[in-house]
Amino acid sequence: MPQQHVTLNNGVVIPQLGLGVWQMKDGNEVETAVSAAIDAGYRLIDTAAIYGNEAGVGRAIADSSIPRDELFITTKLWNADQGYMETMQAFEKSLARLGLDYIDLYLIHWPVPAADKYVDTWRALEKLYSDGRIRAIGVSNFTPPHLERLLSESTVVPAVNQIELHPRFNQAATRELCNKLGIAVESYSPLGGAGSNLLDDTTLAGIADQYGKSVAQIVIRWHLQHGLVVIPKSSNPDRIRQNFDVFDFELTGEDMEAIDALNTDNRVGADPETANFT
Ligand code: A2P
Repeated sequence: MPQQHVTLNNGVVIPQLGLGVWQMKDGNEVETAVSAAIDAGYRLIDTAAIYGNEAGVGRAIADSSIPRDELFITTKLWNADQGYMETMQAFEKSLARLGLDYIDLYLIHWPVPAADKYVDTWRALEKLYSDGRIRAIGVSNFTPPHLERLLSESTVVPAVNQIELHPRFNQAATRELCNKLGIAVESYSPLGGAGSNLLDDTTLAGIADQYGKSVAQIVIRWHLQHGLVVIPKSSNPDRIRQNFDVFDFELTGEDMEAIDALNTDNRVGADPETANFT
């Protein structure tokens, strides 16, 4: 079975499984990972200005033999750059670091409600989108109140909301609202995040044994079958390949429900309501 895709609310098609590069060092680490991913069949790469590795991602893209229009590159606007003019400048810098002339998906990284700039920031994304510099625009870490405010004060509905989402924090309410609004949900920290012990969970291990797959592959499959876009991070070429080898089996409804039942409503990352990193 080949890679699967999701069609966004503006008709742009995004690969459903991609590589996340959070915490990868610019240079050899990120270049090796992105090159291994592209060789394994990945076409979606997810970076961010704050990761400090856009240049390395760009070098791996330039070195690959895959045409640019077959790749789907996401990057994100950092909190300190929120505001209309600041966003315009930050976008140009990301583009230059990546060595690209357009971005497939550009996201506001965090809402930072205390700064109250995400609506102005969104207007800049709308302008870049209407100018054809970005194929789709979206948000990250937006909770239902942030989405509702953005929709009430702007024109373009975000194509994507990228949020922390894994079996222990399955975000049912935000997923339901996004489905209703036509916003695709993208899962970050999909394997529970670095340092979590989700991959040691005994329920998941039991399911993995039945399918002859790893726990990581079972969890990735759970995201795919929920219709989510999913971007597991790995710096290890073997695990990068393993995480893409998930298109040849299907979890039963019963196993999906058993994994849904692992939800504890506890996030491992920051709370978007209060996160204010600069
Ligand atoms: P590594 O980069 O050494 O492979 P998340 O995507 O939820 O943030 O999780 C990323 C964490 O899971 C990283 O620490 C990553 O480590 C690890 N990881 C990624 N893929 C696998 C896998 N197939 N098996 C075990 N650990 C994995």
